[in-house]
Amino acid sequence: MQISVIGCGYLGAVHAACMAELGHEVVGVDVDHARVARLSAGDAPFFEPGLPEVLARAVASGRLRFTTDMSEVADASVHFVAVGTPQAHGSQAADMTYVDAAVDALVPWLSEGALVVGKSTVPVGTAARLAEKVHAGAPGADLAWNPEFLREGFAVKDTLTPDRFVYGVPAGPAGELAAARLDAVYATALAAGTPRIVTDYATSELVKVSANAFLATKISFINAMAEIAEATGADVTQLADAIGHDARIGRRFLNAGLGFGGGCLPKDIRAFQARADELGLESLAFLADVDAVNLRRRARVVDLAAELVGDVDGARVAVLGVAFKPDSDDVRDSPALDVARALHGRGAAVRVYDPEANTTAARLAPELGYAADADTALRDADVVLVLTEWTEFRNLDPSRVGDLVAARRIVDARNVLDLAAWRAEGFEARGLGRP
Ligand code: UGA
Repeated sequence: MQISVIGCGYLGAVHAACMAELGHEVVGVDVDHARVARLSAGDAPFFEPGLPEVLARAVASGRLRFTTDMSEVADASVHFVAVGTPQAHGSQAADMTYVDAAVDALVPWLSEGALVVGKSTVPVGTAARLAEKVHAGAPGADLAWNPEFLREGFAVKDTLTPDRFVYGVPAGPAGELAAARLDAVYATALAAGTPRIVTDYATSELVKVSANAFLATKISFINAMAEIAEATGADVTQLADAIGHDARIGRRFLNAGLGFGGGCLPKDIRAFQARADELGLESLAFLADVDAVNLRRRARVVDLAAELVGDVDGARVAVLGVAFKPDSDDVRDSPALDVARALHGRGAAVRVYDPEANTTAARLAPELGYAADADTALRDADVVLVLTEWTEFRNLDPSRVGDLVAARRIVDARNVLDLAAWRAEGFEARGLGRP
């Protein structure tokens, strides 16, 4: 099939490469010339395991190309819209500028029978509004909504073999046609048994935001338990293991620690609340608490560091991990970066090391010091903070680290270290929600 992907950021670049991997002819469109040049050379513009191989293969095969020229999508019959919906400035709501601009630019090039497929995370009601635009500008074309559930770090796998497909389609024969078209796009995964849910526009939009709201709530729930554990001497990691054995609860996404960040969960729960407010509903008021619990964990880690060093002003702080999660170089709304900046703001000399995110972090926070490796970050530190749970940090040897630092103090903000082993080496070691 001939496919276009509008917007070649995280979602779009991965989607375009994976669609070509599945055998489709794909053109990716982006307004950013530098990004298009890199992608055209088969070079992934961000760190994502497996993407460089898929991208290089797709570009070399001639099945995938990138352009800034929208007219080049004219031959495609399915057009995925994968542009970003960041948090709007000065508001909790999603900024819909990019989605609207993409659809406006695309509509003049839609051929008879073309299908526009929204993948961006949008406020409920968007698909119906955009369908009117499509019908007005290209009467023979239609629109479907097909939210994306990929996780950074697993983006290629999640795109090629997702948990489920959700299609939001119009009622009646037009909807059947749209679903059949998407079935053809995803034939490989469907043949392997991936479930697919065909529904209306509003439900499909809500599936995406409610899934992310649920995940955020699950993380903040366990972090709220961490606060209680801290006040009572209990151990939240054991609590999570114990309640996680109940299949109705499940152990996944119950890791207490520094909380959630990234380009999705934080802005999605805020935009979802903003949409509920617009609808005059109090239903999502609890998400304000989910957000607040999450942000409190960042403050807690800053306090723990301060408690350990006594005086933050002038203290040398080794920050291990600055990405919002491991196996990513993404620092958007990164809890780790927030903590590093807060300590710097209080006068600490912060030295950051992240296996992949030093460069992206330095762009946002050039005021921090960056080390080329963990040893350099650790040398002469007054306190060590593990803020992102890269495997490299999980495997740190307490005795080696002890030889490098000035004072044996460590905060494990992701609860991945064996605190007893660190204490046995003379470290003052603190976790979150752990005695
Ligand atoms: C999230 C969702 O998991 C995806 O399903 C969704 O498609 C994506 O957002 C999106 O909307 O595009 P992602 O942002 O890649 O994916 O990251 P997650 O793996 O969900 O992690 C989010 C944050 O939660 C990270 O900062 C992570 O460290 C934190 N987290 C996760 C915890 O603090 N505890 C946990 O138990 C799990």
